[in-house]
Amino acid sequence: MSNSLPVVETRQLVKVYGDGADVRALDDVTFSVQPGEFVAIVGPSGAGKSTLLHLLGALDRPTSGDVILRGTSLAKVRDLDRFRSQTIGFVFQMHNLIPTLTAVENVEVPMAEVRLSGRQKRERARELLKLVGLEKRGHHLPNKMSGGERQRVAVARALANRPAILLADEPTGNLDSHTTDEIMDLLTALNRDQGTTLLVVTHNPQVAGVARRVITLRDGRIQSDIAFESAYEKDLIDLKHSLLGRAILAGNGDLPEELRDAAPALRQLLAKV
Ligand SMILES: Nc1ncnc2c1ncn2[C@@H]1O[C@H](COP(=O)(O)OP(=O)(O)O)[C@@H](O)[C@H]1O
Ligand SMILES: [Mg+2]
Repeated sequence: MSNSLPVVETRQLVKVYGDGADVRALDDVTFSVQPGEFVAIVGPSGAGKSTLLHLLGALDRPTSGDVILRGTSLAKVRDLDRFRSQTIGFVFQMHNLIPTLTAVENVEVPMAEVRLSGRQKRERARELLKLVGLEKRGHHLPNKMSGGERQRVAVARALANRPAILLADEPTGNLDSHTTDEIMDLLTALNRDQGTTLLVVTHNPQVAGVARRVITLRDGRIQSDIAFESAYEKDLIDLKHSLLGRAILAGNGDLPEELRDAAPALRQLLAKV
C-alpha cells in the first residue's frame, strides 16, 4: 500500500435511515482508497452498498462519521454540488442520459460550470467519446444507441471534469453478459491506461472479478476487504494453491463465513491464473 494521500477515506461511517424503526444501513465503516485502485464493493441486497456510494459521492450526509475526499472533509464543504461535480464522476445502473441531447452534448452537460469555451468543451467531449470507443457516434441521440453504447456515453460524461474517482453503482445491471464484458473491459482499460481510480458496486462476479480489491459489505459492516496489490498475479497463484484458495475454488463449507459473499468474485479471479 502506497503512502500517498488517499483519494477517498471513510471514518467510522454510520448511516441510519428514518426515525422510530431505524434502519442502520451503514455501521462503523472505515476504509480508504489509494489513487489508481480498482475496488469492487460486493454484498447481498440491502447490505448498504448504494448507501455507501451515496455518502462517498456526497449525494447524502452520514448520520455520524466522515468522508474525506482528497484530504477534504465533506462535513466541512459548503457548496457540495460544486465540489461533487469537480471531484467525483458517477455511473449508475440506468445511464440517465438526457434523451433530447446527442451523445456529445450529454458528455458536455457536467462541463456547464467549467471555464472553457464552447469549442474547448466540444473538443474535450469528442476526446472522451473517442476514449470510450464512440468517436463516430457523437451526433446520435441516446435512443439510437445500444444499451452498451449508452453506458459508454455515461462513462464519458462521468469523466468530463477529470474526477479524482469514478463511482459506479451496478453499472452493468441492465446489460447482457457480452455487453457487461465490454463495459468492464472499458473500465479496466481506464484504470490501467489512464490511472482512473474506480469504485464499483456490483453483485456480478464477472464484474468483481476484474477489480484488484474486493470489499464485502454485510448488514452495513465491512465483512472482508481483500486486495491484490502489486504482485497481483503472483499473489493470486499463491492463493490458488493455498488451502484457502482450494476452498474458494471448491466452493465448499471449509470457507470461512466472512468470505462466503466474496467467494464468487474470488473464484472468478483465481480462474484466470
Ligand atoms: N432512503 C432510504 N430510506 C430508508 N431506508 C433506506 C433508504 N435507502 C436504503 N434504505 C435501507 O438501508 C439498507 C441498505 O440499503 P442499500 O444501501 O440500498 O443496500 P444495497 O445497495 O446493498 O442493496 C436497506 O435495509 C434499505 O432498505
Ligand atoms: Mg444498491
